[in-house]
Amino acid sequence: MSPPAVTRSCLAVVLAAGQGQRMRSERPKVLHEIAGRSLLGHAIAALREAGVERIAVVVGPGREDVAAEALRLAPSARIFVQAERRGTAHAVLQARAAIAEGVDDVVVAFADTPLVRPETFRALRAELTRGATVAALGFEAADPTGYGRLIVADGALTAIVEHKDASPAQRAVTLCNAGLMAIEGRHALALLEAIDDRNAQGEFYLTDAVAKAIGRGLGARALIAPEAEVMGVNDRVQLAAAEALIQTRLREAAMRGGATLVDPASVHFSHDTRLGRDVTVEPGVWFGPGVEVADGAIIHAFSHLEGARVGPDATIGPFARLRPGAALDRDAKIGNFVEIKKSSIGAGAKVNHLSYVGDASIGAGANIGAGVVTCNYDGFLKYRTEIGDKAFVGTNSSLVAPVRIGAGAFIGSGSVITHDVAADSLAVGRARQVEKAGWARAFRLKKAQEKSDAKG
Ligand code: UD1
Ligand code: CA
Repeated sequence: MSPPAVTRSCLAVVLAAGQGQRMRSERPKVLHEIAGRSLLGHAIAALREAGVERIAVVVGPGREDVAAEALRLAPSARIFVQAERRGTAHAVLQARAAIAEGVDDVVVAFADTPLVRPETFRALRAELTRGATVAALGFEAADPTGYGRLIVADGALTAIVEHKDASPAQRAVTLCNAGLMAIEGRHALALLEAIDDRNAQGEFYLTDAVAKAIGRGLGARALIAPEAEVMGVNDRVQLAAAEALIQTRLREAAMRGGATLVDPASVHFSHDTRLGRDVTVEPGVWFGPGVEVADGAIIHAFSHLEGARVGPDATIGPFARLRPGAALDRDAKIGNFVEIKKSSIGAGAKVNHLSYVGDASIGAGANIGAGVVTCNYDGFLKYRTEIGDKAFVGTNSSLVAPVRIGAGAFIGSGSVITHDVAADSLAVGRARQVEKAGWARAFRLKKAQEKSDAKG
């Protein structure tokens, strides 16, 4: 038996007090979304996946919305308010009370840096077990302008110098600071409190924790990540770039998990999309949040799914829309221009063309004809439609809810069904057809005469 793993306790301090003015938005920057989840949400999720059990979030004044999003994703998170923006170290120190409780590792993350992988947070923490008191995350920048530079000598990190404070020689360094840091908990408060604001920007720089550690004979190390992983989001162009990067990741994960994407670049995923094995996704498909697709299902081109469950070997689309609460059992078939909302579709049931099904349950093997509509709303409340197993609903019927159609019942085409229909019976709810022999010919003659009289 292997010895139990020694787990180090960890507190993450997530900085989310930025205004994000370059977004030009009413919404705080960190609540903008990629892959259907806020930037803040991605940061918190990665930290949790990395095994970080305590989370502190530093928000700007009056940002209850940011705090609420943090608590939605991490109910035990502690929220701290930074009343004034006085730099990254000042921001971290707002969580002083959480740091002072004592913890093995303190990790600082930025809420506007959403692509950092859990492995990277883990690797950064691991540096603390290798003799470092401070570990900074770096990257080789294509354009280093504006970033802090990592000054490395003999493999050790000796300082981080902010761009505005750097000498020409230091500005030539392309190894940049991503901003994220891990600090040994037992030293964190002393190091942070030693930082001052005597620099070009008059701010308390978190990056100075490196110099403070070295000044006390403690070690500092840098860990290098790919530039794409540590990209920050400051405006909507970068938001779109981050979206593109995360979509690439999600597509690759889907394919490695056994799904076929015929044209991967045209498929949009949410952070939580789950595809089974041998699922096929055709071009132009959109997965909003909360979609789960079981093994063997086929999603034909240009379908839009959100909050939906698709059963094994089911077929969707092309041009189908599954809205929240759509739950399809195995072998169900949803065809073109069909919308399903908050409804269960039984095994092998078919809704093949031009239908709206809302607040309904459709039994196994039922057949819903072209153009059938569940009339679920009277302008005030919503009502349910229940259709039994193997029922047949004829083309262009309106089912006025609340209404029940028994198993095996047959609804004549064009019916407006307002009363429950018993199992195995036929219901027809439309005017009976009348035929008047010769009427059309007489009508034509009469009208032709009227027209020539009017001209004469
Ligand atoms: C910071 C780093 C820099 C690094 C860069 C990477 C410092 C001093 N510098 O610079 O070395 O290359 O990130 O993008 O840390 N924040 C607050 N309160 C504050 C200040 C910042 O919450 O008072 C938050 C911001 O919202 C943001 C993060 O901290 O999420 C980084 O702040 P930002 O102003 O973007 O730092 P930079 O100057 O870019
Ligand atoms: Ca920045």
